[in-house]
Amino acid sequence: MKPKKTILDIALMKQSGEKISILTAYDYPFAQLMDQAGIDVILVGDSVATVFSGHENTLPVTMDEMIYHTRPVVRAAKHALVVADMPFMSYQIDLADARRNAGRLIKEAGAQAVKLEGGQNIAATIAAITEIDIPVMAHIGLTPQSIHRMGGFKVQGRQDAQAAQLMADAKAVEAAGAFAVVLEGIPAHLAAQVTAALSIPTIGIGAGAGCDGQVLVIHDILGLCDKYSPKFVKRFADVQQIISDGIGEYISEVKSGAFPTAEHSFK
Ligand code: KIV
Repeated sequence: MKPKKTILDIALMKQSGEKISILTAYDYPFAQLMDQAGIDVILVGDSVATVFSGHENTLPVTMDEMIYHTRPVVRAAKHALVVADMPFMSYQIDLADARRNAGRLIKEAGAQAVKLEGGQNIAATIAAITEIDIPVMAHIGLTPQSIHRMGGFKVQGRQDAQAAQLMADAKAVEAAGAFAVVLEGIPAHLAAQVTAALSIPTIGIGAGAGCDGQVLVIHDILGLCDKYSPKFVKRFADVQQIISDGIGEYISEVKSGAFPTAEHSFK
C-alpha cells in the first residue's frame, strides 16, 4: 500500500522534477475518487464558498464550515496530503488568532497543513504558524480574498512594479517558512522566474506551465459549475449533462410509474 504523503514528499518532488498534482475537494466521495486516482495533494479550498455554497466570492466562508468540509476529506485521503484553507478573517486580526485557527484545522479537522493568502504583508503570520509546527502553503498573485482591493478577479503582475512586488512576496513567504506557494493569475513568464528563484515548490493556477505543480477546482474540471469559467480552466470531463439526464430519467419514471419495479421492491 502506498504511504500517506507528507510535506517532505512534496519538497522532494521539486528536487526530482516530478510535477505536483493538486485538486480541491469538499466532501468524502470526491476526495476518495481523487485519492484513489493518485492525486498528490487535496486542497479543501475556501472556493467551497462559491462552488459548493453558491456565494459570489470566497469571503463569507467561516472556520466552522472549513472544519466541517475538511473532516470528510481527511477520512477519505489515504495517500494524498490534505491542506485546508484558512478563511478570510481567520488569520488577519493577530498572530494569536491565526495560530489558534490554524491549530483548529489540524486538531479538530485533521488537516496536515493550512493555506493562507498574502505575501510580504502576511509573512509574520506564516512564521508564527510554522513556528508551532503547522506547515503552511502560501498563496500569492490573484488572491481571491483580496477581491475588493484588486477590483475583481484580475491578472496580477503585468506591470514591472507589480512583478517586482510578486517576486518579493514569493521570497518573503519562502523565508517565513512556507513549504510551498500557490501562484494564481499571473503571467506565465513571471511564474517561471519565481519558480526558478525559489527552493520551495510553486503551484500554478492560471500561471502557465513553468510551475512545479498545478491546482484546479474539481467542479471546474468536471464541468459542474458553469456560472463562471476562467481562461485557465480546462474541462477534463463534462458530467453536468450526465447528472441532468439521470435526474430527468428518475423524475419521468416516478411520474409514469416505471420505477420502482419488482426488482427494487421487497416481498
Ligand atoms: O480555494 C481554492 O480553491 C484555492 C485554489 C488555489 C484553487 O485557493
